[in-house]
Amino acid sequence: MPAWTALLLTGAAATLSAQPGRAPKFDDSAVERGKAAFITACSFCHGSNARGGESGPDLVRSALVIDDENGRQLSDFLKAGRPGAGMPAFDLSPNQGRDIAEYLHRLVYAAATRREYAILNIVIGDAKRGEEYFNGAGGCKACHSPSGDLRGLGAKYEPVFLQDRFVGPRRVADPRNPEANRGSPNQGKKVRVAPASGPAYSGDLIYISDFHVTLRDAQGATRTFARGPEGPKVEITDTLQAHADLLGKYTDQDIHDLTAYLVTLK
Ligand code: HEC
Ligand code: HEC
Repeated sequence: MPAWTALLLTGAAATLSAQPGRAPKFDDSAVERGKAAFITACSFCHGSNARGGESGPDLVRSALVIDDENGRQLSDFLKAGRPGAGMPAFDLSPNQGRDIAEYLHRLVYAAATRREYAILNIVIGDAKRGEEYFNGAGGCKACHSPSGDLRGLGAKYEPVFLQDRFVGPRRVADPRNPEANRGSPNQGKKVRVAPASGPAYSGDLIYISDFHVTLRDAQGATRTFARGPEGPKVEITDTLQAHADLLGKYTDQDIHDLTAYLVTLK
Protein backbone atom coordinates (compact mmCIF):
# COMPACT_ATOMS: atom_id res chain seq x y z
CA MET A 1 0.00 0.00 0.00
CA PRO A 2 1.48 3.38 -0.92
CA ALA A 3 2.27 5.45 2.17
CA TRP A 4 -0.19 8.16 1.31
CA THR A 5 -3.17 5.83 1.17
CA ALA A 6 -2.33 4.69 4.69
CA LEU A 7 -2.49 8.31 5.71
CA LEU A 8 -5.86 8.76 4.10
CA LEU A 9 -7.28 5.58 5.52
CA THR A 10 -6.35 6.56 9.05
CA GLY A 11 -8.41 9.69 8.67
CA ALA A 12 -5.48 12.03 8.32
CA ALA A 13 -6.76 13.27 5.00
CA ALA A 14 -8.04 16.53 6.41
CA THR A 15 -4.57 17.52 7.48
CA LEU A 16 -3.02 16.76 4.12
CA SER A 17 -4.16 19.99 2.55
CA ALA A 18 -2.50 21.92 5.33
CA GLN A 19 0.75 20.11 4.58
CA PRO A 20 1.25 20.49 0.89
CA GLY A 21 4.75 19.09 1.23
CA ARG A 22 3.23 15.70 2.04
CA ALA A 23 0.85 15.51 -0.87
CA PRO A 24 1.69 12.62 -3.17
CA LYS A 25 3.22 13.33 -6.53
CA PHE A 26 1.28 12.05 -9.48
CA ASP A 27 2.71 11.51 -12.90
CA ASP A 28 0.36 13.78 -14.84
CA SER A 29 1.00 12.26 -18.24
CA ALA A 30 0.37 8.75 -16.84
CA VAL A 31 -2.86 10.07 -15.28
CA GLU A 32 -3.95 11.42 -18.66
CA ARG A 33 -3.11 8.18 -20.46
CA GLY A 34 -4.84 6.18 -17.74
CA LYS A 35 -7.90 8.37 -18.01
CA ALA A 36 -8.11 7.84 -21.78
CA ALA A 37 -7.72 4.07 -21.36
CA PHE A 38 -10.26 4.03 -18.53
CA ILE A 39 -12.83 5.97 -20.53
CA THR A 40 -12.45 3.61 -23.45
CA ALA A 41 -12.39 0.29 -21.61
CA CYS A 42 -14.02 0.75 -18.21
CA SER A 43 -16.27 3.82 -18.04
CA PHE A 44 -19.44 2.36 -19.42
CA CYS A 45 -19.66 -0.02 -16.47
CA HIS A 46 -17.88 1.93 -13.74
CA GLY A 47 -18.93 5.44 -14.79
CA SER A 48 -16.70 8.05 -16.39
CA ASN A 49 -15.43 9.26 -13.03
CA ALA A 50 -15.14 5.68 -11.67
CA ARG A 51 -17.83 6.41 -9.08
CA GLY A 52 -19.94 3.49 -10.19
CA GLY A 53 -22.16 3.14 -13.21
CA GLU A 54 -24.95 1.11 -14.73
CA SER A 55 -23.32 -2.19 -13.97
CA GLY A 56 -20.01 -1.75 -12.15
CA PRO A 57 -19.17 -0.68 -8.57
CA ASP A 58 -17.54 2.55 -7.35
CA LEU A 59 -13.78 2.05 -7.80
CA VAL A 60 -12.79 5.11 -5.81
CA ARG A 61 -13.88 3.24 -2.66
CA SER A 62 -12.52 -0.12 -3.75
CA ALA A 63 -10.01 -1.61 -1.30
CA LEU A 64 -8.37 -3.35 -4.22
CA VAL A 65 -7.69 -0.01 -5.89
CA ILE A 66 -6.66 1.75 -2.69
CA ASP A 67 -4.25 -1.06 -1.74
CA ASP A 68 -2.75 -1.27 -5.19
CA GLU A 69 0.93 -0.48 -5.61
CA ASN A 70 1.96 0.94 -8.98
CA GLY A 71 -0.70 -1.01 -10.82
CA ARG A 72 0.59 -4.43 -9.81
CA GLN A 73 -2.47 -5.70 -7.92
CA LEU A 74 -4.82 -4.01 -10.35
CA SER A 75 -3.11 -5.59 -13.39
CA ASP A 76 -3.23 -9.04 -11.77
CA PHE A 77 -6.91 -8.54 -11.06
CA LEU A 78 -7.67 -7.31 -14.59
CA LYS A 79 -5.91 -10.28 -16.14
CA ALA A 80 -8.39 -12.64 -14.49
CA GLY A 81 -11.42 -10.38 -14.05
CA ARG A 82 -14.42 -11.90 -12.32
CA PRO A 83 -16.34 -13.11 -15.33
CA GLY A 84 -18.94 -14.85 -13.17
CA ALA A 85 -19.78 -11.52 -11.54
CA GLY A 86 -19.87 -9.44 -14.73
CA MET A 87 -16.30 -8.13 -14.60
CA PRO A 88 -14.55 -9.13 -17.83
CA ALA A 89 -10.86 -10.05 -18.04
CA PHE A 90 -8.57 -7.56 -19.79
CA ASP A 91 -5.30 -8.30 -21.50
CA LEU A 92 -3.53 -4.99 -20.88
CA SER A 93 0.15 -4.24 -21.08
CA PRO A 94 1.89 -3.61 -17.73
CA ASN A 95 2.18 0.07 -18.72
CA GLN A 96 -1.54 0.37 -19.36
CA GLY A 97 -2.30 -1.25 -16.00
CA ARG A 98 0.05 1.20 -14.30
CA ASP A 99 -1.49 4.19 -16.09
CA ILE A 100 -5.03 3.19 -15.17
CA ALA A 101 -3.93 2.67 -11.57
CA GLU A 102 -2.31 6.12 -11.56
CA TYR A 103 -5.56 7.65 -12.78
CA LEU A 104 -7.63 5.79 -10.19
CA HIS A 105 -5.23 6.72 -7.39
CA ARG A 106 -5.52 10.33 -8.48
CA LEU A 107 -9.30 10.07 -8.12
CA VAL A 108 -9.02 8.33 -4.74
CA TYR A 109 -6.72 11.06 -3.53
CA ALA A 110 -9.07 13.79 -4.80
CA ALA A 111 -12.06 12.14 -3.12
CA ALA A 112 -10.24 11.60 0.15
CA THR A 113 -9.03 15.18 0.31
CA ARG A 114 -12.47 16.34 -0.79
CA ARG A 115 -10.85 18.35 -3.49
CA GLU A 116 -12.52 18.00 -6.80
CA TYR A 117 -10.13 16.82 -9.39
CA ALA A 118 -11.09 18.72 -12.50
CA ILE A 119 -11.92 15.86 -14.77
CA LEU A 120 -14.32 14.68 -17.09
CA ASN A 121 -12.98 16.43 -19.93
CA ILE A 122 -13.24 13.32 -22.00
CA VAL A 123 -12.96 15.45 -25.07
CA ILE A 124 -9.33 14.68 -25.69
CA GLY A 125 -9.41 14.11 -29.43
CA ASP A 126 -9.03 16.34 -32.45
CA ALA A 127 -12.33 17.58 -33.90
CA LYS A 128 -10.89 18.21 -37.35
CA ARG A 129 -9.58 14.64 -37.66
CA GLY A 130 -12.89 13.41 -36.28
CA GLU A 131 -14.77 15.24 -39.01
CA GLU A 132 -12.51 13.75 -41.68
CA TYR A 133 -13.03 10.29 -40.26
CA PHE A 134 -16.79 10.84 -40.15
CA ASN A 135 -16.92 11.80 -43.83
CA GLY A 136 -14.21 9.40 -44.93
CA ALA A 137 -12.85 6.17 -43.49
CA GLY A 138 -15.59 5.87 -40.84
CA GLY A 139 -18.37 5.76 -43.40
CA CYS A 140 -20.66 7.53 -40.94
CA LYS A 141 -22.14 9.89 -43.49
CA ALA A 142 -23.77 7.01 -45.32
CA CYS A 143 -26.35 6.96 -42.51
CA HIS A 144 -25.95 10.24 -40.63
CA SER A 145 -25.83 13.94 -41.35
CA PRO A 146 -24.48 16.64 -39.01
CA SER A 147 -27.23 19.00 -40.13
CA GLY A 148 -29.90 16.30 -40.20
CA ASP A 149 -30.38 13.50 -37.67
CA LEU A 150 -27.26 14.43 -35.67
CA ARG A 151 -28.10 18.11 -35.49
CA GLY A 152 -27.81 19.45 -31.94
CA LEU A 153 -26.09 16.26 -30.74
CA GLY A 154 -23.52 18.19 -28.70
CA ALA A 155 -26.26 19.91 -26.75
CA LYS A 156 -28.33 16.76 -26.36
CA TYR A 157 -25.86 14.56 -24.46
CA GLU A 158 -23.04 14.84 -21.96
CA PRO A 159 -19.82 14.02 -23.83
CA VAL A 160 -19.30 10.67 -22.12
CA PHE A 161 -22.83 9.62 -22.90
CA LEU A 162 -22.51 10.85 -26.45
CA GLN A 163 -19.44 8.66 -26.88
CA ASP A 164 -21.32 5.67 -25.50
CA ARG A 165 -24.15 6.35 -27.93
CA PHE A 166 -21.95 5.44 -30.86
CA VAL A 167 -19.34 3.12 -29.30
CA GLY A 168 -21.78 0.90 -27.45
CA PRO A 169 -25.28 1.85 -28.48
CA ARG A 170 -26.66 -1.32 -26.95
CA ARG A 171 -24.98 -0.80 -23.62
CA VAL A 172 -26.79 2.38 -22.75
CA ALA A 173 -30.42 3.19 -22.41
CA ASP A 174 -31.85 5.57 -24.93
CA PRO A 175 -32.87 8.60 -22.84
CA ARG A 176 -35.65 9.37 -25.28
CA ASN A 177 -37.14 5.98 -24.82
CA PRO A 178 -35.92 4.53 -21.53
CA GLU A 179 -38.67 1.94 -21.32
CA ALA A 180 -37.80 0.33 -24.63
CA ASN A 181 -35.51 -2.71 -24.64
CA ARG A 182 -33.21 -0.77 -22.34
CA GLY A 183 -29.52 -1.57 -22.63
CA SER A 184 -30.48 -4.99 -23.95
CA PRO A 185 -28.74 -7.06 -26.61
CA ASN A 186 -31.86 -6.52 -28.71
CA GLN A 187 -31.74 -2.75 -28.72
CA GLY A 188 -32.02 -1.47 -32.28
CA LYS A 189 -33.36 -4.76 -33.62
CA LYS A 190 -36.63 -4.82 -35.52
CA VAL A 191 -38.66 -7.96 -35.98
CA ARG A 192 -41.44 -9.05 -38.32
CA VAL A 193 -43.54 -11.98 -37.19
CA ALA A 194 -45.73 -13.59 -39.84
CA PRO A 195 -48.07 -16.36 -38.65
CA ALA A 196 -49.14 -19.03 -41.17
CA SER A 197 -52.47 -17.25 -41.46
CA GLY A 198 -53.67 -13.81 -40.42
CA PRO A 199 -51.81 -10.53 -40.36
CA ALA A 200 -48.08 -10.10 -39.79
CA TYR A 201 -46.79 -7.93 -36.94
CA SER A 202 -43.73 -5.72 -36.88
CA GLY A 203 -42.00 -3.79 -34.13
CA ASP A 204 -39.02 -3.55 -31.82
CA LEU A 205 -37.64 -6.91 -30.81
CA ILE A 206 -37.91 -7.24 -27.04
CA TYR A 207 -37.12 -10.90 -26.46
CA ILE A 208 -36.55 -14.00 -28.50
CA SER A 209 -35.92 -17.66 -27.65
CA ASP A 210 -36.60 -20.93 -29.44
CA PHE A 211 -40.07 -20.91 -27.91
CA HIS A 212 -41.23 -17.30 -27.85
CA VAL A 213 -40.75 -13.99 -29.56
CA THR A 214 -41.92 -10.69 -28.07
CA LEU A 215 -42.16 -7.38 -29.88
CA ARG A 216 -43.41 -3.90 -29.12
CA ASP A 217 -45.43 -2.40 -31.92
CA ALA A 218 -45.63 1.22 -33.06
CA GLN A 219 -48.55 1.83 -30.70
CA GLY A 220 -46.44 0.64 -27.76
CA ALA A 221 -48.36 -2.62 -27.31
CA THR A 222 -46.31 -5.70 -26.40
CA ARG A 223 -47.15 -8.91 -28.25
CA THR A 224 -45.76 -12.35 -27.58
CA PHE A 225 -45.95 -15.24 -30.04
CA ALA A 226 -45.23 -18.89 -29.42
CA ARG A 227 -42.67 -20.36 -31.80
CA GLY A 228 -42.61 -23.88 -33.08
CA PRO A 229 -41.77 -26.00 -36.09
CA GLU A 230 -44.92 -24.68 -37.82
CA GLY A 231 -43.82 -21.09 -37.53
CA PRO A 232 -44.56 -18.22 -37.34
CA LYS A 233 -41.96 -16.87 -39.70
CA VAL A 234 -39.60 -14.50 -37.86
CA GLU A 235 -37.38 -11.96 -39.63
CA ILE A 236 -34.97 -9.80 -37.65
CA THR A 237 -33.22 -6.68 -38.95
CA ASP A 238 -30.46 -5.13 -36.88
CA THR A 239 -30.36 -1.37 -37.39
CA LEU A 240 -27.19 -1.17 -35.30
CA GLN A 241 -25.17 -3.80 -37.15
CA ALA A 242 -22.97 -1.06 -38.64
CA HIS A 243 -22.08 0.11 -35.13
CA ALA A 244 -21.20 -3.40 -34.00
CA ASP A 245 -18.94 -3.74 -37.06
CA LEU A 246 -17.27 -0.40 -36.32
CA LEU A 247 -15.99 -1.75 -33.01
CA GLY A 248 -13.52 -3.92 -34.85
CA LYS A 249 -12.53 -1.08 -37.11
CA TYR A 250 -11.84 2.14 -35.26
CA THR A 251 -8.90 2.82 -32.99
CA ASP A 252 -9.13 4.54 -29.62
CA GLN A 253 -7.76 7.65 -31.31
CA ASP A 254 -10.54 7.56 -33.94
CA ILE A 255 -13.09 7.32 -31.13
CA HIS A 256 -11.62 10.28 -29.26
CA ASP A 257 -11.46 12.32 -32.47
CA LEU A 258 -15.06 11.47 -33.37
CA THR A 259 -16.25 12.48 -29.90
CA ALA A 260 -14.37 15.78 -30.20
CA TYR A 261 -16.10 16.38 -33.52
CA LEU A 262 -19.60 15.26 -32.49
CA VAL A 263 -19.71 17.49 -29.38
CA THR A 264 -19.36 20.48 -31.73
CA LEU A 265 -22.64 19.65 -33.52
CA LYS A 266 -24.98 22.30 -32.26
C1 HEC B 1 -18.92 -5.05 -18.56
C2 HEC B 1 -18.79 -4.25 -17.36
C3 HEC B 1 -17.40 -3.98 -16.81
C4 HEC B 1 -16.31 -3.46 -17.47
C5 HEC B 1 -16.17 -3.11 -18.94
C6 HEC B 1 -15.29 -3.29 -16.46
N1 HEC B 1 -15.75 -3.70 -15.25
FE1 HEC B 1 -14.70 -3.72 -13.51
N2 HEC B 1 -16.28 -4.64 -12.55
C7 HEC B 1 -17.50 -4.90 -13.13
C8 HEC B 1 -18.34 -5.56 -12.15
C9 HEC B 1 -19.78 -6.01 -12.36
C10 HEC B 1 -17.56 -5.68 -10.97
C11 HEC B 1 -17.99 -6.30 -9.64
C12 HEC B 1 -17.55 -7.74 -9.63
C13 HEC B 1 -17.93 -8.39 -8.31
O1 HEC B 1 -19.03 -8.13 -7.81
O2 HEC B 1 -17.10 -9.14 -7.81
C14 HEC B 1 -16.27 -5.08 -11.27
C15 HEC B 1 -15.22 -5.02 -10.36
C16 HEC B 1 -14.04 -4.34 -10.58
C17 HEC B 1 -13.00 -4.15 -9.59
C18 HEC B 1 -12.99 -4.72 -8.18
C19 HEC B 1 -13.66 -3.80 -7.23
C20 HEC B 1 -13.57 -4.36 -5.83
O3 HEC B 1 -13.10 -3.65 -4.96
O4 HEC B 1 -13.98 -5.51 -5.66
C21 HEC B 1 -12.01 -3.41 -10.18
C22 HEC B 1 -10.72 -2.93 -9.54
C23 HEC B 1 -12.44 -3.14 -11.55
N3 HEC B 1 -13.67 -3.72 -11.76
C24 HEC B 1 -11.71 -2.41 -12.46
C25 HEC B 1 -12.05 -2.29 -13.81
C26 HEC B 1 -11.20 -1.66 -14.80
C27 HEC B 1 -9.87 -0.97 -14.51
C28 HEC B 1 -11.83 -1.80 -16.00
C29 HEC B 1 -11.33 -1.38 -17.38
C30 HEC B 1 -10.01 -1.86 -17.78
C31 HEC B 1 -13.09 -2.48 -15.76
N4 HEC B 1 -13.18 -2.77 -14.42
C32 HEC B 1 -14.03 -2.78 -16.72
C33 HEC B 1 -17.88 -4.62 -14.42
C34 HEC B 1 -17.05 -4.12 -15.41
C1 HEC C 1 -25.41 1.66 -41.70
C2 HEC C 1 -25.85 2.80 -40.97
C3 HEC C 1 -24.95 3.43 -39.91
C4 HEC C 1 -23.62 3.75 -39.99
C5 HEC C 1 -22.63 3.47 -41.11
C6 HEC C 1 -23.31 4.47 -38.75
N1 HEC C 1 -24.42 4.56 -37.98
FE1 HEC C 1 -24.59 5.64 -36.29
N2 HEC C 1 -26.47 4.92 -36.00
C7 HEC C 1 -27.18 4.14 -36.90
C8 HEC C 1 -28.47 3.82 -36.33
C9 HEC C 1 -29.54 2.98 -36.98
C10 HEC C 1 -28.52 4.45 -35.06
C11 HEC C 1 -29.66 4.42 -34.04
C12 HEC C 1 -30.49 5.62 -34.29
C13 HEC C 1 -31.49 5.82 -33.19
O1 HEC C 1 -31.52 5.08 -32.22
O2 HEC C 1 -32.23 6.78 -33.31
C14 HEC C 1 -27.26 5.15 -34.90
C15 HEC C 1 -26.96 5.93 -33.81
C16 HEC C 1 -25.85 6.77 -33.73
C17 HEC C 1 -25.65 7.79 -32.74
C18 HEC C 1 -26.62 8.16 -31.62
C19 HEC C 1 -27.54 9.24 -32.12
C20 HEC C 1 -28.50 9.73 -31.09
O3 HEC C 1 -29.19 10.73 -31.36
O4 HEC C 1 -28.59 9.16 -29.99
C21 HEC C 1 -24.45 8.40 -33.00
C22 HEC C 1 -23.80 9.52 -32.23
C23 HEC C 1 -23.90 7.72 -34.17
N3 HEC C 1 -24.78 6.75 -34.58
C24 HEC C 1 -22.69 8.03 -34.72
C25 HEC C 1 -22.12 7.32 -35.77
C26 HEC C 1 -20.74 7.49 -36.19
C27 HEC C 1 -19.77 8.47 -35.57
C28 HEC C 1 -20.55 6.61 -37.23
C29 HEC C 1 -19.28 6.36 -38.01
C30 HEC C 1 -18.08 6.04 -37.26
C31 HEC C 1 -21.82 5.93 -37.45
N4 HEC C 1 -22.74 6.36 -36.53
C32 HEC C 1 -22.06 5.00 -38.45
C33 HEC C 1 -26.74 3.75 -38.14
C34 HEC C 1 -25.44 3.92 -38.63
